[in-house]
Amino acid sequence: MADFGGRSGSLATTAAAFVQTLGWSMPQVSEVLDEYQEVESRLNDRYKECALEFPVTHGVEAETGAFLYAIARLLKPKTVVETGVADGRSSFVILSALERNGSGALYSFDIRPQVGKLVGHHPQWHLQISKPQEALSSFVRALRRLGAIDLFFHDSDHRYLSQLIEYEQAWRCMTPGSVFASDDVDDSRAFLDFCDRNGTTPSLLLDRRKVIGAVRR
Ligand SMILES: C[S@@+](CC[C@H](N)C(=O)[O-])C[C@H]1O[C@@H](n2cnc3c(N)ncnc32)[C@H](O)[C@@H]1O
Repeated sequence: MADFGGRSGSLATTAAAFVQTLGWSMPQVSEVLDEYQEVESRLNDRYKECALEFPVTHGVEAETGAFLYAIARLLKPKTVVETGVADGRSSFVILSALERNGSGALYSFDIRPQVGKLVGHHPQWHLQISKPQEALSSFVRALRRLGAIDLFFHDSDHRYLSQLIEYEQAWRCMTPGSVFASDDVDDSRAFLDFCDRNGTTPSLLLDRRKVIGAVRR
């Protein structure tokens, strides 16, 4: 596990505190997190209705889900990019926020065709599946097409080089004020090295089994 001692600007244990470290006030955060209860309830219904393809533990943890919803509501992003879909827990909460915003699109990337069961079809969702050996090159090509990203979330291949390369590719597309986030930043030193290289101080969220990192561009 990466050593975070003395590295982070902040270490939160709740979505509310984590979002505030990225620049929003408590009343703003509370308002959107109040909405999240209804999203969680619909998501729980989907878990009962769907035949899932992945272990439930592949999905983002509870506070991370709340964080993704809140940040997507507060930023009102035009373009959201996520890597790593599995059954689509993170995709579902991001899309719920975009739906409520009435604008924005989510571009999700994975290497397995059976992903996204919790979402099914959604008009604001663009899912791209690549062959494993072409995952990085097709991701880079897609980023060139998209041009600018307002919210990025990594949750795909957590090996050091895969994380670092993906981070660097996405970072150059991030718009001013955008939010760049990664699940599982404790799986390797990639996120810490990435922040050092780019002179950014990460906010961290300690969520049950893992650590999520985020920076505001
Ligand atoms: C931890 S799961 C994602 C969980 C998802 N974010 C959620 O909340 O339900 C990891 C996913 O990354 C995908 N994956 C692994 N390597 C990848 C790569 N190089 N590019 C894109 N996706 C990848 C896997 O197929 C799997 O669906």
